Amino acid sequence: MLLAEQAATCTACGLAETRTNVVFGDGSVRAQVMFVGEGPGRNEDLQGLPFVGAAGQLLNRLLSEIGLQRSDTYITNVVKCRPPGNRDPRPDEITACKDFLSGQIRLIDPVVVVTLGNFATKLLLREERGITRLRGRAYPWWNRTVIPTFHPAAALRGSASVLASMQEDFALVKATLDGRVEPPSESEAEHPAVQLGLFG
Ligand code: URA
Ligand code: SF4
Repeated sequence: MLLAEQAATCTACGLAETRTNVVFGDGSVRAQVMFVGEGPGRNEDLQGLPFVGAAGQLLNRLLSEIGLQRSDTYITNVVKCRPPGNRDPRPDEITACKDFLSGQIRLIDPVVVVTLGNFATKLLLREERGITRLRGRAYPWWNRTVIPTFHPAAALRGSASVLASMQEDFALVKATLDGRVEPPSESEAEHPAVQLGLFG
C-alpha cells in the first residue's frame, strides 16, 4: 500500500480518535527542500493539508524571499493528526508516527530538511538543546543537510528578531541548495538517524 494510504487509515496513536483528516504532506515529489513542522492545527485538520493557516502564509513569504515557491518544496509534520486544542504532541504519539516521516524523507530524497521548531529538530537531531541554541547552522544528516529554524508560529507571536533569525536560516537553505556551502559528511555509524532508528 502507498505510504499516504497507510497514513489515511492509521490508528497507531490516540490522535486518530479526534482528527478530521490525516495531514500527510503536500508539495513536489522532486523537492530538494523538505519542511517538517510540529503537527496540524485546526485549519490543517479541516483541509487535510499542512501549513494552510497564518503560519503557512509566513512560510510562503520566507520562501518567496529566497526565490522559492511552496510548490517547489515538500511540507509535512512530525505528527500527521492534529493534537486536540493544539496541545504539544506527546512522546508516544511522536514515536507512533515517526516511520511515516522516515518514509517520506526516503521517498522524497531532499537535499535539505528544514526542521521548524523544537519537536522536529529534537526528533531528527536527537538533541536535548532547544531550537534557540541549535538554529543558525547546518547539520550533516544522513548524506543530507538539516537546517533547524524557529517554528513560523513563534515568529508570529514573537519579536522581530525571531523573524530576522528565520530569514538568516532561510538564506542558509538557499546557499546550501545553490551548493555554496559544501555538503557536510559524517560516518554512518555515528549518524544520529542510525541510533534513532529513523531509517530502520
Ligand atoms: N503548524 C504546524 O506545525 N504544522 C502545520 O501544518 C500548521 C501549523
Ligand atoms: Fe497514525 Fe500518526 Fe495519526 Fe497517530 S498521528 S494516528 S501515528 S498518522
